[in-house]
Amino acid sequence: MRVSFTVNGQEMKADDIWAGESLLYVLRERMGMPGSKNACEQGECGSCSVLLDGELVCSCLVLAAQADGHAVVTVEGLADGDELHPVQQAFVDAGAVQCGFCTPGLVVAVTDLLARTPDPADDEIREALSGNLCRCTGYAKIFDAVHLAAERR
Ligand code: FES
Ligand code: FES
Repeated sequence: MRVSFTVNGQEMKADDIWAGESLLYVLRERMGMPGSKNACEQGECGSCSVLLDGELVCSCLVLAAQADGHAVVTVEGLADGDELHPVQQAFVDAGAVQCGFCTPGLVVAVTDLLARTPDPADDEIREALSGNLCRCTGYAKIFDAVHLAAERR
């Protein structure tokens, strides 16, 4: 089976995929886009979060075939050349990155949150990021990063 869809605005395709192959696998292993991380492959951790037609999804739970003809945005699509996306910069400046494994998914999820809710309260952040697990930070710095990104918008 062949699939084709846009990734960060660029038309991409993959040949000879099998029907059960996930969007995450195709992005990482066939399209050379390793930014979305593979931690659980069960929809539990959010490290694989991407936008599919503007909707936040766990790419490990989406079949690549379901993305056929659609538009995907990954963490690689957020920065502007060498300039980090404001959410990425806020994570750096707030010290919200330790091992960094959860960070790409969190950055995509926070970008989605701030697009919908420009100045979120802590409860709204908690709700929006409830699907993104971080094993390192204790979340306080992540909340700081969200507030910092919101302030700078
Ligand atoms: S790898 Fe997709 S939710 Fe964990
Ligand atoms: S920084 Fe290590 S899992 Fe979040």
